[in-house]
Amino acid sequence: MGRLDDKVALVSGGASGIGAAAARRFAQEGAKVVIADIDDAGGGAVVAEIGANAAFQRLDVTAREQWAAAVTATEQAFGRLDVLVNAAGIVFDGSVEDTSFADWRRMIAINVDGTFFGCQAAAPAMRRGGYGSIINLSSVAGLKGNGQLCAYNASKGAVRVMTKAVAEGFARAGDPIRCNSLHPGVIDTPMLDTFFHDREELRQTWLKGKPIGRMGTADEIAGMVLFMASGESSFATGAEFVIDGGMTA
Ligand code: NAI
Repeated sequence: MGRLDDKVALVSGGASGIGAAAARRFAQEGAKVVIADIDDAGGGAVVAEIGANAAFQRLDVTAREQWAAAVTATEQAFGRLDVLVNAAGIVFDGSVEDTSFADWRRMIAINVDGTFFGCQAAAPAMRRGGYGSIINLSSVAGLKGNGQLCAYNASKGAVRVMTKAVAEGFARAGDPIRCNSLHPGVIDTPMLDTFFHDREELRQTWLKGKPIGRMGTADEIAGMVLFMASGESSFATGAEFVIDGGMTA
């Protein structure tokens, strides 16, 4: 028996990194999975790997109307929606003075608006199905500031507390929907490959002195996402799951 038998999941950012690892893990545990991303090729490759229990849906998380279409497509393909992983996101660095307003807006649009739209769009379908677990990708950067990550810090801090508001509201209303935030540390994914490209010194600085002095893997995060998605975490809502190799200890 799988830990997600009969469950249907929608994973934004599922074409790469943590979202893709979570999607693969979900499928191994019996779930049906919709990979929703702007990356058609990457999303298609993950679907091909998983097989008939996966489908791709093009989704730009900043476009509210595309969220409605993604939820409808999920229900049409697999009959229900139980789990939403809001993993689509971007990172770039910059201090408060170095960050242009256009870049700030782009960060907030993808990381915050995208997560907000996802929670809004998924709720009615989860209510219809009688089960809901929303997993919002925040970060250790949503717990602690860094002078060079101003916009990213702001976006992940917003995701952290918005998650609590969503969780509190649904729980009090008697809705069967839980919502929790996930706070990874430094994880080896294409996002950080790009971030550290040609900046090996910066990579070393980020890892120096950390209790577990290596990057985590997307699979190490996927195990936690699986727990958060399944009924095993049934009493957890509005909580922060930190998985960072001791970085914030
Ligand atoms: P990744 O870059 O490997 O994957 C992100 C995915 O989001 C990509 O497939 C990309 O196409 C998609 N995406 C970007 N903009 C989109 C949009 N507008 N609409 C739909 N999809 C879009 O990144 P990774 O590392 O897997 O990150 C996943 C999440 O985890 C992000 O929210 C990130 O901020 C967060 N995170 C990552 C950490 C790390 O060290 N890699 C640490 C803490 C948090």
